[in-house]
Amino acid sequence: MAYAQIYSKWQADPEGYWLDAAGAIDWEVKPTRALNADRAPLYEWFTEAMGNTCWNALDRHVVAGRGTQAAIIHDSPVTGTKHVITYAELRDRVSRLAGALRLKGVVKGDRVIIYMPMVPEALEAMLACARLGAIHSVVFGGFAANELAVRIDDCTPKAIIAASCGIEPNRVVHYKPLLDAAIDMADHKPDFCVILQREQEVAKLVEGRDVAWHTFQFGVEPADCVPVEGNHPAYILYTSGTTGAPKGVVRPTAGHMVALMWTMRAIYNIGAGDVFWAASDVGWVVGHSYICYAPLLAGATTIVYEGKPVGTPDASAFWRVIAEHRVKSFFTAPTAIRAVKRDDPDGKLMGKFDLSHLQALFLAGERADPDTIEWAGRHLNVPVIDHWWQTETGYAIAANPLGLGLLPVKIGSPSVPMPGYDVQVLDEGGHPVAPGTLGAIAIKLPLPPGTLPGLWNAEERFRKSYLHHFPGYYETGDAGYVDEDGYLYIMARTDDVINVAGHRLSTGAMEEVLASHRDVAECAVIGVADSLKGQSPLGLLCLNKGVDRDPAEVVRECVALVRDRIGPVADFKRAVVVDRLPKTRSGKILRATMVKIADGQDWKMPATIDDPAILDEITQALRGLDLAGAKG
Ligand code: COA
Ligand code: AMP
Repeated sequence: MAYAQIYSKWQADPEGYWLDAAGAIDWEVKPTRALNADRAPLYEWFTEAMGNTCWNALDRHVVAGRGTQAAIIHDSPVTGTKHVITYAELRDRVSRLAGALRLKGVVKGDRVIIYMPMVPEALEAMLACARLGAIHSVVFGGFAANELAVRIDDCTPKAIIAASCGIEPNRVVHYKPLLDAAIDMADHKPDFCVILQREQEVAKLVEGRDVAWHTFQFGVEPADCVPVEGNHPAYILYTSGTTGAPKGVVRPTAGHMVALMWTMRAIYNIGAGDVFWAASDVGWVVGHSYICYAPLLAGATTIVYEGKPVGTPDASAFWRVIAEHRVKSFFTAPTAIRAVKRDDPDGKLMGKFDLSHLQALFLAGERADPDTIEWAGRHLNVPVIDHWWQTETGYAIAANPLGLGLLPVKIGSPSVPMPGYDVQVLDEGGHPVAPGTLGAIAIKLPLPPGTLPGLWNAEERFRKSYLHHFPGYYETGDAGYVDEDGYLYIMARTDDVINVAGHRLSTGAMEEVLASHRDVAECAVIGVADSLKGQSPLGLLCLNKGVDRDPAEVVRECVALVRDRIGPVADFKRAVVVDRLPKTRSGKILRATMVKIADGQDWKMPATIDDPAILDEITQALRGLDLAGAKG
């Protein structure tokens, strides 16, 4: 069936639609009811069903005779290694790890933090939790100890599973000292830590608390899958909000399986035996959905790539992996393609590889600029499909569904809403606007299966962040418009979230760190245009009266402070000292106007500005910086 028919079918009978889709999953107790609106506007799906994600991702494929097929291919140019794990091997490894966790007292509902680089053991840890009904929370390796500590205190894990180190092209990332520091900082202490000792760095274990990965599992009885309720949290994934406190997005078990399974066929056109590659990191939602769960639910082969788009060893890395492992659908962030394009503008390196198995390139994580899409399409000669989604939804809100028959591509648009999503563009008063008019993008409630039912231990924050502003809708935090054909255009965020190299970051969190510097009286962080990373954070600092130190020294300390507190992933490298910040008469900092000045765009003097002269001072200060957007 084609997209329009499928979308109408969903509109006509949303519950019947998802009950049908649930038929693709193995259940212990089959769902008989799809939507649970008992606590509307808080919704659940498949509450009464019972099932297990690990069973559906592993055991069922082994039972169906796919045991010898590759489940994971680990391709690691940073360590110079590659290896394949079959479905049967993966099932055995995961059930042993789950058995060891169970022996140490981990049961359904317990939280387990996973802090690991791109190694298969990260997926094994996620799946072992799923096997027991334990709730994992994966923390990205580029975050500092402080961020890890915040997450430990929020989700109070019984155990932490970590690796001794990660490997960036320019350095070894010492995970274990970061983990130790985080546990010291946190009020909550895990009962135990399991440490995967890597060859590149063997970490010192804390006696009585830490146990090495292999020792932990030695001689242990493997664990079977524990069926859980449909609304049981499969995982918590923290994402940036407007403040320093990250939001713990909860993923419900049943809806997650049903929706991901649906997307593999309908959006990515992937089935059992195909090879799928999402070049992201398990620490992000793309990694959860499309490195770990969805490809395995579909019985496909997933690639765990421990490398970069460039520099490991060069801009041919992606094409080598695609050719060598016969990747059928490839998913990455536009920033990664921009990095490749910068190093190989004529796409010469692609020509060296047989890319004939590749059917499409999928892009998400940030706005895909037309240049990048055109460049990739021209050189790869396959459809380049932009699709739009968020950590909160776990899969695409809007896409061009390859598996249902590709719709005409409009460059600059992630195409059309997927079944389950009634997307509306609203004005400030919450009224739908005409096609072509910019507004806040909202989704009519209920959201479809698999999307967040709430935030971990923060129901009021969930209501306030997503449901209050436009009653009856979920507020996405994105602004944009719909055209006459129903294609969506995602233009900007409406909040203090910026997107740096496909990573979602909170300027509010960076401001909180800068404000803690002893010489900083007031500050603002804005996201300025960056030709490689999309956006890049820039700090504006007002110093305390009487501070007569070299401003460059304060800037250096502030840069180091953000790296130390949030982590290298914040990519906070630039700040400037100014006398005053531009504000409205009610005291709100005019960040959007400063972004326009920094990016060299036209801007209007805001009517509510307190003192117009300040914007001249800001313009002068920004001129002194090497800002990509302000050039020309
Ligand atoms: N562990 C520890 N540190 C990490 C890390 C990790 N897993 N990932 C990134 N970092 C560090 C980097 O080493 C870098 O540190 P540095 O300041 O010492 O150089 C810093 O965080 C910023 O990293 P990054 O944003 O990746 O910039 P980069 O200049 O190293 O690389 C790109 C630029 C475009 C190649 C890279 O950003 C990239 O591959 N982006 C794609 C992102 C992606 O797939 N996102 C997922 C959304 S789908
Ligand atoms: P994250 O939760 O990290 O996946 O970030 C989600 C945010 O990234 C969205 O709210 C958008 O602001 C942005 N984003 C993701 N995909 C796209 C896309 N295809 N086009 C434009 N913006 C996107």
